[in-house]
Amino acid sequence: MTDRLTIRRPDDWHLHLRDGEMLKAVLPETTRHFARAIIMPNLVPPVVTAADAADYRDRIMWAKPKNSDFKPLMTLYLTEDTEVRDVRAAAEIGLIHALKLYPAGATTNSQSGVRDFKKVTRVLETMAQIGLPLCVHGEVTNPEVDIFDREAAFIERVLDPIRREIPELRVVMEHITTKDGVDYVAGGGDTIAGTITVHHLVINRNHILAGGIRPHYYCLPVAKREEHRIALRAAATSGDPTFFLGTDSAPHTDAAKLQPCGCAGCFTAPNGLSILAQVFEEDGALDRLEGFVSEYGPRFYRLPLNDGTVTLEKGPPVEYPAQIETGDGPVTVFDPGMPLYWRVVD
Ligand code: DOR
Ligand code: ZN
Repeated sequence: MTDRLTIRRPDDWHLHLRDGEMLKAVLPETTRHFARAIIMPNLVPPVVTAADAADYRDRIMWAKPKNSDFKPLMTLYLTEDTEVRDVRAAAEIGLIHALKLYPAGATTNSQSGVRDFKKVTRVLETMAQIGLPLCVHGEVTNPEVDIFDREAAFIERVLDPIRREIPELRVVMEHITTKDGVDYVAGGGDTIAGTITVHHLVINRNHILAGGIRPHYYCLPVAKREEHRIALRAAATSGDPTFFLGTDSAPHTDAAKLQPCGCAGCFTAPNGLSILAQVFEEDGALDRLEGFVSEYGPRFYRLPLNDGTVTLEKGPPVEYPAQIETGDGPVTVFDPGMPLYWRVVD
């Protein structure tokens, strides 16, 4: 039986760090294990220009624990006013690694997102030319589309038409939650990849809604039926380099989650790696964990692999704090609902 596992240091290809007090409190939870992360730009106001991204990167570097060599990989929030020049310049100097497409209204702070996709064609063409990936939040927002169908509808109505019009555009379909997403990404050739979160490998919609409502499991895209979770598990543990980790760790204070209209997001930074080791072991795929967390992401983003390693050890159940304290109030850590035996020791 394997009880010790050393793998190349992982990266997180989708992370919310927020700003101010929250940034200070949550950043060490990521830097402890991860070497790099794609940083989501949905601040208030959003990170839309190269100058915004440079400032935000500086704030992250300030907030970082002093002994950490963590590297934030910045992104810009794509709006209908995004300027081609600005994107090109920011990519050339290596400041940004992707643009993020939020359909307007899809999720937290997405009001500035894209309403008319025609208005961003020039930016997308430029990105295709220079090989800059587009990260997409793949949900339509039309009120008449059922929330559980929004990913499938997005693929058909938005993503596929964009990819047909601009076939060279490199796309990361982020936090996929359905078999439809898995199948679309798997069959999409080498210009598309899919990220999968920790929580969508563990919970389905019953965990959120059956026997009482559990706001800490509410995130977007919302978890779907069990058959979809199984498809995500199969994709993540398959060793197919098209799928890699993007935790979408998305901290909100308990006060913001526990509301009549609570925020979407699961905070998995503290225990994400432990949970993943458990999931991969359960599925007989521990030998594929390294590819999923440390190799396939950099390959798609055309970045070098990390040099360092992390070691996980299996032993008696590991306890993670139920919450972490922040200057803005407590933030609840994602509860996987099962004992975790793998801990990061080094
Ligand atoms: O659950 C989510 N939380 N999904 C998102 O797309 C955004 C994120 C956030 O920023 O809180
Ligand atoms: Zn996100």
